Amino acid sequence: MSSKPIVFSAIQPSGNLTIGNYIGTMRHWSKMQSNYECLYCVADLHALTTIQNYSFLKTRTLDALSFYLACGVDPEKSIVFIQSHVHQHSQLSWILNCFARFSELLRMTQFKVKGTQGEKYIPKTNLGLFNYPILMASDILLYQTNVVPVGYDQKQHIELTRTIADRFNSIYGDVFALPTPIINQYGSKIMALLEPKKKMSKSDINKNNVIFLLDDISSVVSKINKSVTDSDRPSAIYYDIKNKPGISNLLEIFSAISNKDVHVLSKELQGVMYTEFKKIVSDAVSKFLHKLQRRYTDYRCDETLLKKIAYEGSMKAQLKAETTLKKIYSELNFFHLFK
Ligand code: TRP
Repeated sequence: MSSKPIVFSAIQPSGNLTIGNYIGTMRHWSKMQSNYECLYCVADLHALTTIQNYSFLKTRTLDALSFYLACGVDPEKSIVFIQSHVHQHSQLSWILNCFARFSELLRMTQFKVKGTQGEKYIPKTNLGLFNYPILMASDILLYQTNVVPVGYDQKQHIELTRTIADRFNSIYGDVFALPTPIINQYGSKIMALLEPKKKMSKSDINKNNVIFLLDDISSVVSKINKSVTDSDRPSAIYYDIKNKPGISNLLEIFSAISNKDVHVLSKELQGVMYTEFKKIVSDAVSKFLHKLQRRYTDYRCDETLLKKIAYEGSMKAQLKAETTLKKIYSELNFFHLFK
């Protein structure tokens, strides 16, 4: 048994990743590699819940994997793998379905947002969207995970994971470790540039709301230029999410990219005009994205390397997953042909 605490995190490869994905989640991954035993997974099974065109699934999966590596995830230090390559995730998922309650899943905000309109269910909503958090719980619990770095929107799913684990443990003993979410105070919910009261989302119809990690640099500059600030005059740059959501959002983005505290930055930016502030932020973001995209392209061009990394990662993950799954099968008293 390893003595380091275990980290599990994942992102769905269901579209172009955004700077919100990076700041809320991926940014933390490489830093955790020395003090934790880390598993980073591309959640392709989850992507089936919202995917519009299956022919893109493979491409998007390789894109996501390349971004993981470009962000500093090191396959020598962490287990990096693709969810569908480790069949135990789907196996555990069925079992955990039987330990979760319908009413608990009905309460999930993400389902309400994506699967309902007012009081009504959107008619063609697939059942996977409803069951989504159970597969997430399986991802996490298979590896005896202690901590899960995620964006704020996933907090409720981690709480549900704990509830399920706790329920299972209260019947069968300490089978699962109880995971804790790590949600940073700043940057865990990056907002839309033009509507800073709603979350930045890769599926936003207005692309000016979103900075994609693969955006070309000139469009990033123009998006930040167009971003909504406020009408305070003279310009006043400080963090106040309620009354100054646009400025606070830009501060959070800048803080994450420059690795400086939000409040230290606010002090440094006293007296700076909004137009100048936007230029400072867009310079920093452009520089950062330029470097990230270069590293990304190097990995993305080398599919042989990506396959090797995914294969080796899946082998390591399967070994660990199988240990937990065996224990569960045995606790549940499944009939075994071979012991
Ligand atoms: N639902 C997460 C997202 O869309 C991705 C995910 C899948 C995940 N399984 C997970 C995150 C397990 C943390 C832990 O961002």
